[in-house]
Amino acid sequence: MDNTPTSSAADRFPAGRLAFPHRDLTGIGQLERHEILYLLDQAAQWVELNRQRTKHTELLSGLTIINAFFENSTRTLLSFEIAGKRLGADVVNMHAAQSSVKKGETLIDTAITLNAMRADAIVIRHGSSGATQLIADKVDCPVLNAGDGQHEHPTQGLLDALALREALAQQGRGSRDALADFTGLTITICGDILHSRVARSNILCLQAMGASVRLCSPPALMPRGVEAMGAQPFHDFDAALDGSDVVMMLRLQSERMAGQFIPSAREYHHLYGLTRERLKRAAPDALVMHPGPMNRGVEIDSDVADMLDRSIITSQVEMGVAIRMACLDVLTRSARGVEGWS
Ligand code: CP
Repeated sequence: MDNTPTSSAADRFPAGRLAFPHRDLTGIGQLERHEILYLLDQAAQWVELNRQRTKHTELLSGLTIINAFFENSTRTLLSFEIAGKRLGADVVNMHAAQSSVKKGETLIDTAITLNAMRADAIVIRHGSSGATQLIADKVDCPVLNAGDGQHEHPTQGLLDALALREALAQQGRGSRDALADFTGLTITICGDILHSRVARSNILCLQAMGASVRLCSPPALMPRGVEAMGAQPFHDFDAALDGSDVVMMLRLQSERMAGQFIPSAREYHHLYGLTRERLKRAAPDALVMHPGPMNRGVEIDSDVADMLDRSIITSQVEMGVAIRMACLDVLTRSARGVEGWS
């Protein structure tokens, strides 16, 4: 990695621009580079709090946050719940499986219902691309996208960037400094790119921070037009790994696959699974990432996923709480009447 600083204070705070002018967080695609850096910097303070014995503030005291999850989740749901509670908010979870959605209530009627309860922020996970924006258009409070179909998972992109910045700083290859970016880094994302909202958010976020992004998958799992996004497509994993500074593995999203996209899990592992042997093709100190949940033995071997000096998978989970605290704080500032924050 080239450690030459390319960021400047002017990049971080462009004159006359708000640090974060958006009511909602629907995707990384809506954010400018300085807005991404702002959220990462805000999250850094919460990393420190989360490592203390007492992990509580009253910053969002009196606010109600609703987590409405129409798809399964462990990391995102729990970390949004923990984030809201550590900030002092009242947090309510709505699981679609136990809601009136099962009686046929539409997404829009559900949104109008949540809005009538005077939520101060709504966090949505939904299987349809664009569902978050649909809800944002119907409610009066900030809406945060916790993953919508194949579109975006913006807080995952942000937490991945924060975990990477933290790991590079620990390796002495980067800095936790507010201006640190990923210029000079080559990052390979390998797996089911076609169905992955995580890949899309990461491509946008990592490139905005200066990284070169390679995408690797079987032909059937590579979306069209990735070159137009600035990413370099590969179908040969060994070639994609060559010299990569970071390897981000993705799981096969069988729940989004109608039909057969790969011959077998065994063959997929043979061609696209990350093994210790294969990792040797990457840079000598290459970092390994995975958003979870993992299919061990399919896209990644356990002895790679659990490598203490190279895998930052548990750090990604830790950073998820801090990023979600930052997003909830920043997006509710206007409603809280916080002056002069931008
Ligand atoms: N990475 C991620 O979104 O995990 P969950 O599905 O467990 O929330």
